[in-house]
Amino acid sequence: MCGIVGYIGSREAYPVILKGLKRLEYRGYDSAGVALLNNGMKVYKKKGKVAQLEEEVIGKDLHSHIGIGHTRWATHGEPSDRNAHPHLSKSGKLAMIHNGIIENYVSIKNELLKKGYSFKSDTDTEVLLNFIEDIKANNECSLEEAVRIALKRVVGAYVILLIDEENPDTIIAARKGSPLVIGIGKNEHFLASDASPIIEYTKEVVYVNDYELAIVKADELILKNLGNEKITPYVQKLDLELAAIEKGGYDHFMIKEINEQPDTIHDCLRGRLDPVAGTITMAGVQNNMEQLKNAQRIVMIACGTSWHAGLVAEYIFEELCRIPVEVEYASEFRYRNPVINKGDVIVAISQSGETADTIVAIEKAKEQGAFIFGVVNVVGSSIARLSHAGAYTHAGPEIGVASTKAFTAQLAVLTMVALKIALEKGTITHDRYMHLLNELHEVPEKVKQLLAHADAVKNIGLKYKDASDFLYLGRGYNFPVALEGALKLKEISYIHAEGYPAAEMKHGPIALVDEKLPVVFVATKDAYYEKIVSNIQEIKARKGQVIAVVTENDNVIPDMSGDIMFVPEADEIVAPMLSVIPLQLLSYYIGVAKGLDVDKPRNLAKSVTVE
Ligand code: AGP
Repeated sequence: MCGIVGYIGSREAYPVILKGLKRLEYRGYDSAGVALLNNGMKVYKKKGKVAQLEEEVIGKDLHSHIGIGHTRWATHGEPSDRNAHPHLSKSGKLAMIHNGIIENYVSIKNELLKKGYSFKSDTDTEVLLNFIEDIKANNECSLEEAVRIALKRVVGAYVILLIDEENPDTIIAARKGSPLVIGIGKNEHFLASDASPIIEYTKEVVYVNDYELAIVKADELILKNLGNEKITPYVQKLDLELAAIEKGGYDHFMIKEINEQPDTIHDCLRGRLDPVAGTITMAGVQNNMEQLKNAQRIVMIACGTSWHAGLVAEYIFEELCRIPVEVEYASEFRYRNPVINKGDVIVAISQSGETADTIVAIEKAKEQGAFIFGVVNVVGSSIARLSHAGAYTHAGPEIGVASTKAFTAQLAVLTMVALKIALEKGTITHDRYMHLLNELHEVPEKVKQLLAHADAVKNIGLKYKDASDFLYLGRGYNFPVALEGALKLKEISYIHAEGYPAAEMKHGPIALVDEKLPVVFVATKDAYYEKIVSNIQEIKARKGQVIAVVTENDNVIPDMSGDIMFVPEADEIVAPMLSVIPLQLLSYYIGVAKGLDVDKPRNLAKSVTVE
């Protein structure tokens, strides 16, 4: 997810663009850049936040009334000056910014390389830009027509803003799958990823739809479809305030990010999992398959929520790949004198890629000859760079301190990795591989379905918000989900909560149970179902208040327990991506009901870069 801003009109373009980029930094902050037109093209760009760009341009010629700006969340090509947007075409006459992923950029790049093109960056954006310029030159057509032709060939998601030194009075924009808003001013237009950079100038906006092209001049906005037919712009009046816009209309980043999960899990699978071909494409796995499939042991190293993802992965990898797995708290691993054998595979899981304990732990393992596979969200982060190979989770920036969409994206990536290794090793049949691949493919839609019942979870949250303690219980794949649910509640509502294997209750913790204690069971239909029904009866018998996450066709547990949260049926291996979401929602609604800052809980930081 990146932030894009464009301006054309009578104002100085640079200040408008810079301020807009700052408003959009929540969408990505790996690098920032701006392209301005005035007696030629001027492009200034810099790795880091928008503040770094501001320093970079001190003393530079910034006078212009037309420009485009970009704040990046890296997907292709790690954060750097050369991978920062805007990109220049080979001729240097075109500059473009892009938000999205061009999935077929490699084939397009190969065509251009054969034509003698060279590339300054690793980005898919530079490929698309030169593809457009190549079409314009070879077809002797307008830039607008070249964009239309190019976009018909493109597979993936995009918003692009393009300016041309030879037509300094026009911005060309197009979108498919990523957002684009155009603000209508008096003889001026504003373009952005959302309305936050626009709202202080005008409340009249046009939301550009998929497969639409916008030709924007100071005093004219033309919308067309890819068939070159004009479309009448539908002008709307903004009724959101600035703060709400950054959160996409949600009250908090946390609830926004919980609701993004159908899209972020889809983004994680996109370009990798192909249910028709029955393939999972992951270069980091494919290129290291010998190392991975012959591992004598896999050690998952992480902290917090990422550690819980490692626990789920332990069940998945042992079940599918028949490789022994250990899951280590990075903070403990780094101070022990762990036994690391050559040939061990370390899976380092981290949203930020900057967690100090995890960094030191994998450095220690690497020194002893272990192979490091990173599962990271932030492209080009320290852990990504320390790893021998890896797979990004593509969940986009996670602003809320509580990790939600990053967790489900981690599970999606880890499940794909395990499936690839298991198929290669022959430890699962092709039928089971295809079954699980389809189960994984269906997760985004099932997440969307269960999010429709968020209000039911909210009511449960309101009912139990004043409890002083909670227990979270689960078995098998849902045991780590119980731990994750307890962590979410602790860090968002400050209520004490413990996660336990449900069967462990009889070894002591059941002494805690009385009529004041809410006990949350993660009890979806799986191999452990009959057992967990018995565990629920044990708690009911002691007057515990039972709350349960169950499969929507369950007609046993709902009759037994007080409050139910339903999730769609799914194979137990992918079920955690579903069963965790009611628990994310429960912690959110309780935290809000208690009037707490759910995006920035006390004592916590988004990335723990210190010991
Ligand atoms: C999760 O909600 C917490 N914010 C925290 O436990 C987090 O998961 C942990 O600090 C690890 O962070 P990382 O994934 O960025 O390495």
